[in-house]
Amino acid sequence: MGPIQIKQILECKIGTQVVVKGWVRTKRESKNAVFIAINDGSTIHTIQAVAESGQINEDTLRLITTGSCVRVVGLLVASAGAGQAVEVKIEEVEVYGTADPDHYPLQPKKHSLEFLREIAHLRPRTNTFSAILRIRHTLAFAINQYFNDHGFFYLHTPIITASDAEGAGEMFRVTTLDLNKLPRTDEGKIDFKEDFFGRETNLTVSGQLEGELGAMALSKIYTFGPTFRAENSNTTRHLAEFWMIEPEMAFFELEDNMNLAEDFVKYVIGYAVQHCADDLEFLQKRLEEEEKSKPQNERSMPLLEKLNFVISNAFERVTYTEAIDILLKSKPHKEKKFQYDVAWGIDLQSEHERFLVEKHFKKPVILTNYPRAIKSFYMKQNDPNPAEPGATVRAMDVLFPGIGEIIGGSQREDNYDKLVTRMHEVGIEPEALWWYLDTRKFGTAPHAGFGLGFERLVLFVTGMGNIRDVIPFPRAPKSAEF
Ligand code: 4AD
Ligand code: MG
Repeated sequence: MGPIQIKQILECKIGTQVVVKGWVRTKRESKNAVFIAINDGSTIHTIQAVAESGQINEDTLRLITTGSCVRVVGLLVASAGAGQAVEVKIEEVEVYGTADPDHYPLQPKKHSLEFLREIAHLRPRTNTFSAILRIRHTLAFAINQYFNDHGFFYLHTPIITASDAEGAGEMFRVTTLDLNKLPRTDEGKIDFKEDFFGRETNLTVSGQLEGELGAMALSKIYTFGPTFRAENSNTTRHLAEFWMIEPEMAFFELEDNMNLAEDFVKYVIGYAVQHCADDLEFLQKRLEEEEKSKPQNERSMPLLEKLNFVISNAFERVTYTEAIDILLKSKPHKEKKFQYDVAWGIDLQSEHERFLVEKHFKKPVILTNYPRAIKSFYMKQNDPNPAEPGATVRAMDVLFPGIGEIIGGSQREDNYDKLVTRMHEVGIEPEALWWYLDTRKFGTAPHAGFGLGFERLVLFVTGMGNIRDVIPFPRAPKSAEF
């Protein structure tokens, strides 16, 4: 199945005849020898290929520069130099593709992440990004593994949709209409009957509503697909196109939902710790390097320690009402250090979430029972509680250190009448979602689910600071180059 890769070659016995194919990271010439470090992305490690001076003809040697692609045939031998156990004694070398040093932007020196974003087509060739991409893959694999092992079915929900699942209205339109010649109705409005689907359509913000249909038949499903939000937030935590994992389970209530979310994220993080040791160690060193300039007490926990801490400690579970209480009594609130005011009913700002997670509890937190007014129409309504100033719903958000909200979910309203009333209240036409409401008409059942933002998970596991650096080709306001 194709040529053997560097990851395996590095584990071959000394004396094995090997063929190495990959991109040159560095070429170094000493008096007696030429050293070529080659990487093929299968591992963070490069393999060193060595030739005696004069062995490779001058014309070929000149073409072997950083970024060029080569094939090397030779014998795997014990390495005399420090830094690697084995190396390849070159017998034959072929240059597949050159990389003119005057134009190849990835020279062997430190590049800023901002610069690398501008060359996103080449940045997977750096150690940092190849490590991130391998970890991203491993997390995706672990997610599918977890659900498969727990009796969930992967449901492929549509990407083009006529409904706004979250009711937030931050959607990208999908149309084939000629924007220069829009068809109009008699009232002068755009006539979407003429459009491809005969109605207004958008890119989905969530697969949840269709996911619920699946759960009402298969009991436990999950989706794992791209989602799109046209929110104009140019932050380090938001993308316009991101991947979401949304499990949906019949016969699960809020408590079961929390247990699943906690067990699930701990499993996938643990899987990455186990299977991406080299890459995580590399990223940990990178972070330590980055933090050297900070005073000791401001440095964060080493990456692997942080991941192991999350895996081995129970998440703190608190209600929204309790959280508001904590915030009201907090020092930053009393000293007016928060930018946004705290009061029961507010949508928690990221400064509030971070205070709870990073300063107060110092571990992941699951917040539950949010005010009804700030959450989506489909969340199950709680019975009135005298301890709470207003109506609440059975929502849960999982908050992570350094990230804020990583998961949002809830038990779903399974009562037809309550759901329809709520839709009217928030201005969603029940007729438009007749198929969704049918599940509450025909064999309704308690059920729950949540959405995990995949890139926020990758952000947490890699310790990176900007969400645009954990997806191969980020989509954000004014940015869709690659
Ligand atoms: O909290 P959200 O909006 O929840 C839903 O979409 C529900 N339908 C999920 C469900 O119950 N099935 O989004 C879920 C998660 C957030 O917690 C966050 O991690 C991530 O998706 N997310 C984003 N990630 C990157 N960029 C954005 N613009 C994001 N918006 C949400
Ligand atoms: Mg949310």
